[in-house]
Amino acid sequence: MSESTELEGRRFPVPEELAAQANVGPDVYERAAQDRLGFWAEAADRLTWAQRWDEVLDWSNPPFAKWFVGGKLNVAYNCVDRHVEAGHGEQVAYHWEGEPGDTRTITYAQLKDEVCKAANALVELGVQTGDRVAIYMPMIPEAVVAMLACARIGAVHMVVFGGFSSDALASRITDSGAVLVITADGGYRRGAPSALKPAVDEAVGRTQSVRNVLVVRRTEQDVEWTEGRDLWWHDVVDRQSTEHTAEAFDAEHPLYIMYTSGTTASPKGILHTSGGYLTQVAYSHWASFDLKADTDVFWTSADIGWVTGHSYIVYGPLANRATSIMYEGTPETPHRGRWFELIEKYKVTILYTAPTVIRTFMKWGEDIPAKFDLSSLRVLGSVGEPINPEAWLWYHEHIGGGRCPIVDTWWQTETGAHMINPLPGVTSLKPGSAQTPFPGISAKVVDDEGNELGDDTTGLLVLTEPWPSMLRTIWGDDDRYVDTYWSRFGKEVYFAGDGAKKDADGDIWLLGRVDDVMNVSGHRISTTEVESSLVAHPTVAEAAVVGASDPTTGQGIVAFVILRGNAEDSGDELVQQLRTHVAKDIGPIAKPRQIMVVQELPKTRSGKIMRRLLRDIAENRELGDVTTLTDSSVMNLIKDKLPASS
Ligand code: WTA
Repeated sequence: MSESTELEGRRFPVPEELAAQANVGPDVYERAAQDRLGFWAEAADRLTWAQRWDEVLDWSNPPFAKWFVGGKLNVAYNCVDRHVEAGHGEQVAYHWEGEPGDTRTITYAQLKDEVCKAANALVELGVQTGDRVAIYMPMIPEAVVAMLACARIGAVHMVVFGGFSSDALASRITDSGAVLVITADGGYRRGAPSALKPAVDEAVGRTQSVRNVLVVRRTEQDVEWTEGRDLWWHDVVDRQSTEHTAEAFDAEHPLYIMYTSGTTASPKGILHTSGGYLTQVAYSHWASFDLKADTDVFWTSADIGWVTGHSYIVYGPLANRATSIMYEGTPETPHRGRWFELIEKYKVTILYTAPTVIRTFMKWGEDIPAKFDLSSLRVLGSVGEPINPEAWLWYHEHIGGGRCPIVDTWWQTETGAHMINPLPGVTSLKPGSAQTPFPGISAKVVDDEGNELGDDTTGLLVLTEPWPSMLRTIWGDDDRYVDTYWSRFGKEVYFAGDGAKKDADGDIWLLGRVDDVMNVSGHRISTTEVESSLVAHPTVAEAAVVGASDPTTGQGIVAFVILRGNAEDSGDELVQQLRTHVAKDIGPIAKPRQIMVVQELPKTRSGKIMRRLLRDIAENRELGDVTTLTDSSVMNLIKDKLPASS
């Protein structure tokens, strides 16, 4: 038996002390199963509503759901003002730490003032309810303030990860029709200031809708300035009043758009709305992590540019009045113990991070975390990809000191919040499995015909009931929304795009994407998007991209390219050029790990590229069945091109 199979059989019981004081106990599943909508209504009651809803769920026109119909609330009020009004103004909302070591402590009262000022500034700039606002920022407090200011006035924010290229930003601005871009001169990464404003200038120059660019000064590097369009945050926001009356919006008022990769080259604008989204992110944050607002110090290590940052750095924690850590930089700057230093310094009690980070820490060695006092930690979380049992165990032992439950949370940009995960005070844990649908969620594993599977049979993951924080549509494209998620098994079954199996205990194991989406360090990247970037390069005639398993990043991007007739194969130099081209085109996260120049690609008789075979090559496996290939000698040609080591 391999080490990993042995680990898969192990169980980790619930720590008794934690169970005794846990926010939710085992009865929660039964409660939710007996009255699903009643359960979600109770969860919604944890928020403050300006007007109560008439109906919990309207599912009369699937797959278009309406939650808390008729209810009204203001999301920013729920995240900030109500805590101040309840006497918690002095509580810290964020301990922010810049990469160079500069710090800011922001209380709920201060956050309220900043959000009100920013909301007034947006109004002054003519931003109206329903307008889209692009946010392209480093991990600084103003990013949160900008999001909440939008929410406060009912504008729809559209955050673009700061590591994305100007092209990616431009296409998102165009698709969403953003009227304002909020950005910064730059941020600190790996010990140096990195610029953001030039990408904004390039992007905005190519789009029609943006009237203004609001710029936070973070690094003080020189920036180009377009008079009349560009404005400094400190000029416009700082002089505003700290008073702003929050208007209540409909529960279904759009809150934000977040673009994510799909199976085609153009990213999809996932639309989330207000009442249901806030209900589920707040409740799941409280239940999954056993969050105690008065005593916990919570840290989600993601970037605000991803859904994990939206739901578990901003909306969930703030709605729950949590004290959070926000860190600008990378884990190895200025040294590889940086995160552990932060855990020790702020006495972090809950850490939520990704398997790729854990595996990187494993590689660096356990003597690094051992140098720090991590005894404040009590609950650990994981998100982004399946956590392999070895990494789970290492996380448990070397970061969690053997005492902290690990909550492996399966969810997606589309689901908005946790969907499948153990509960720390309830579930005895199985390393590598996300285990149990969240209370009030129904998840199944089915075969191609939609028949439910069990007993370790591999199938497709589906969600069979709507949930409060579900996406409501793809921005501007209802048809694509229906086609992508709600067609495979009918209009009432959500197709997640993940493979899964259910074991004999009923625990769910996630097995990765079943579509052409790769998962690199927890980031979703579509093979098609990278392929179209490669063929846009003047030397490339054809490209095929696969995700090959990678010990650290989960998957690595491997590209096979055929050059144009007149292009010269300059070997390494060309490969580097192409890698840089993709990084510039999409963003550094999409840079292929490996590019192989080949004469031909393996195709079926109908002309489809056989990615399965390319994956075999990329993962150094014996080739699978080649009989459907037009010409099986192609594979030998490709193999001959491989470096001798593989
Ligand atoms: C994968 C991130 C297994 C999955 C919140 C999903 C996971 C995609 C897990 C969504 C997990 C995320 N176990 N797989 N705990 N968490 N995934 O939209 O393939 O960036 O479909 O959302 O990541 O990625 P997204």
